[in-house]
Amino acid sequence: MSQNWIEFKENFYFDNKTEFSIDLGNIGINKEVKKDFEKKFEKVFKDMQALESGSIANYDENRMVGHYWLRTPSLAPNNEIKECIEKTIKDIKEFANNVHSGKIVSSTGKNFDTLLLIGIGGSALGPQFLSNALTSKNDKMQVFFFDNTDPDGMQKTLDKIPNLETTLCVVISKSGGTKETRNGMLIAEKALKDSNLDYTKHFVAVTCEGSNLDKTAHSENWLQTFPMWDFVGGRTSETSVVGLLPAALQGFNIDEFLAGAAYMDSLTRKNEFSNNPAALLSMVWYVAGDGKGKKDMVILPYKDRLELFSKYLQQLIMESLGKKEDRDGNFVYQGISVYGNKGSTDQHAYIQQLRDGLDNFFVTFIEVLSAKASVASTDKMCKFQVEDNVDSGDYLFGFYQGTQIALTEGGKKSCTITIKELSPFTIGMLIALFERTVGFYATLININAYHQPGVEAGKKAAAKILDLKLKIESLLEKEGTPQSLEDIAFKLDENQNMAVVYRILRHLEANGKIKDDGEVQIFDRKYSKK
Ligand code: PA5
Repeated sequence: MSQNWIEFKENFYFDNKTEFSIDLGNIGINKEVKKDFEKKFEKVFKDMQALESGSIANYDENRMVGHYWLRTPSLAPNNEIKECIEKTIKDIKEFANNVHSGKIVSSTGKNFDTLLLIGIGGSALGPQFLSNALTSKNDKMQVFFFDNTDPDGMQKTLDKIPNLETTLCVVISKSGGTKETRNGMLIAEKALKDSNLDYTKHFVAVTCEGSNLDKTAHSENWLQTFPMWDFVGGRTSETSVVGLLPAALQGFNIDEFLAGAAYMDSLTRKNEFSNNPAALLSMVWYVAGDGKGKKDMVILPYKDRLELFSKYLQQLIMESLGKKEDRDGNFVYQGISVYGNKGSTDQHAYIQQLRDGLDNFFVTFIEVLSAKASVASTDKMCKFQVEDNVDSGDYLFGFYQGTQIALTEGGKKSCTITIKELSPFTIGMLIALFERTVGFYATLININAYHQPGVEAGKKAAAKILDLKLKIESLLEKEGTPQSLEDIAFKLDENQNMAVVYRILRHLEANGKIKDDGEVQIFDRKYSKK
């Protein structure tokens, strides 16, 4: 009922030291395929070597790509970068210790016990993943997030924060100009002011030197500013201050986390194709989707603590690989779609389709051998028998194996990554594994994984909409009499954008900024300023 044993052994990577393994599964890897990729990897390894030694690998943005140096600073291309990374890690630990020990206190002299992280995308997804994966009774601070510009979402979070007086706000934005994060910062500032608190004594910034956020933090004399560097991309910043500072504040062992990432780097830096787990995994991605992302990647960890890993990977993979042009300027429309949550929960949701329906995916199972996470306070419930000689974790394992076998029998593709236990070290390993796999795959398909023109385009488009919203409001103010949709579009020379004008008017009306005349025919309504 399971995979052929000889093929299983041939397609199995195992690291003795950590007992980390990858079963390349039934994706269609055989000796010939491996031989072919071994050849392809001569160039891939060369590119990665150049990147790690400081070449301008993100050439569109004229930047080096240095996330691997963050966990092995001795590899940085110069002493200045090396020392900067080392000093920053020291500063993070010192700052977190000072917060925990009460040397750094809030505006009213109270110890901080709550952390509000304000960021988005690469400046939030990694911290959210880690916070959820490693949380325990021993957490030093309770952690909340603002990761959107939804005012109701932020209010909902504020309502849950036990006490703003003891809340430290860490504002993270590499560019220091992201509007969602700026808005979150302003809303946190307002909430603190409304509680008669000096917000500047609650705020910490993580950003690039000279950014708007950096300037604000300095001019308002915030508690501290930590650096981001242009050689670290947002979605590969989890081992920079972006990930380390909130992790240290929550009380996690960041040395262990960095050591896990560095250890995986040492495995994936090997220029030996069949002994390099990231090279093997990138071959799986390539073969599964024909190098064109034809199959979606379903990430299925059988572990609650890894629930947000798929969300984190969705950004890492889709923002890195989802590109219109290749490195030679050809239109290639590349990418791999990623989704998933956790097993066995998902077996009661979309896995029905995976088993019996459309064959447009490959599953990456993530198995954690030990039921107890290293950070958990006890294994009491892991040992509790729900039936004679059967505990709940046996069921979790049974459901993972059952699904894997059922998919195989149904001719559906999957592979499995196995870690021995869930700990800061193994999470560091997993993050580093996928970062390197993305890098290798990007070279295989000849795209730049380190820029994000689509994200920038979205930001510019939003700015235009806000500009038009202001124009509509001032037109209604100026006109003084009710105006139809057509009138407004005509007067603002937006006849080509009637649908956008319509949506803006409905948005303004629903939020009490303008009123309509209630005409039954929605497109015939007239609007005026309230
Ligand atoms: O990975 C990326 O580059 C993006 O997702 C960014 O992290 C995101 O847009 C937030 O940018 P910033 O950190 O500059 O606010």
